[in-house]
Amino acid sequence: MTSGSASSDGRVLDALSGRPKVAIVTGASSGIGLEMVKRLIENGYRVVANSRKITSAMTLHNTADLKLVDGDIGIEETAKHVVRTAIQNFGTVNLLVNNAGVFIPKPFTEYTAEDFRRATQTNLAGFFYVSQLAVAQMRLQKFGHVVNISTSLVSQPIAGCPGSLANLTKAGLESVTRAPAIEFAAEGIRFNAIAPGVVNTPMNRVDGGVVIQAARRSKF
Ligand SMILES: NC(=O)c1ccc[n+]([C@@H]2O[C@H](COP(=O)([O-])OP(=O)(O)OC[C@H]3O[C@@H](n4cnc5c(N)ncnc54)[C@H](OP(=O)(O)O)[C@@H]3O)[C@@H](O)[C@H]2O)c1
Repeated sequence: MTSGSASSDGRVLDALSGRPKVAIVTGASSGIGLEMVKRLIENGYRVVANSRKITSAMTLHNTADLKLVDGDIGIEETAKHVVRTAIQNFGTVNLLVNNAGVFIPKPFTEYTAEDFRRATQTNLAGFFYVSQLAVAQMRLQKFGHVVNISTSLVSQPIAGCPGSLANLTKAGLESVTRAPAIEFAAEGIRFNAIAPGVVNTPMNRVDGGVVIQAARRSKF
């Protein structure tokens, strides 16, 4: 995360302003994103959490340090709302975690145009708009950190778990992580990607846990 110090109550503080750090986490109503928000809040961050149904999911609640924004992050208006909420409420953006993602396990030949639209809209457009806006703010501040959540399937597909749309979109996400990392390195803005293996979240409980079952069969 971005450089900083700790207050007497253990809060992570921004080194320059001495104020609590601010994070945006997309796809935060369940699974990895939800746990990330909880850990960030525990560590003293102020957080803007987004998902399409984050309010009705009732897994997180608005507080002074946590603002929820409903909406599809692949739509530009949602991205604007998310970044505006961070700046208006907390004044800055230290960390953006592009976590929102969909996994559509299907044989390659059975994907529909709607599957393609859904995967690209969430996994790629969901990175694009919010990152542009967050990085614009980070450039003003001369610091910031963008973390993109990819998948280990990009480099190692699992036998019995077809999911080419994950490869197509998340490989793009991994690749684009490198370009702005170079472009903005001199401005104090870092980009990283994390590619988790199989994690037991609601994503893997749909379709009878197809990824987990296939991973066990493959001894992944
Ligand atoms: N679980 C794994 O094994 C695994 C492995 C590798 C990588 N990953 C990656 O980790 C990330 C998190 O996955 P997870 O396992 O935690 O899955 P999850 O529990 O299904 O969470 C996905 C989150 O994304 C949100 N979301 C989906 N589409 C969205 C959209 N268009 N706009 C905004 N939010 C959206 C969902 O909430 P709403 O329905 O309310 O929108 C939910 O909060 C994903 O990018 C996934 O590809 C997961």
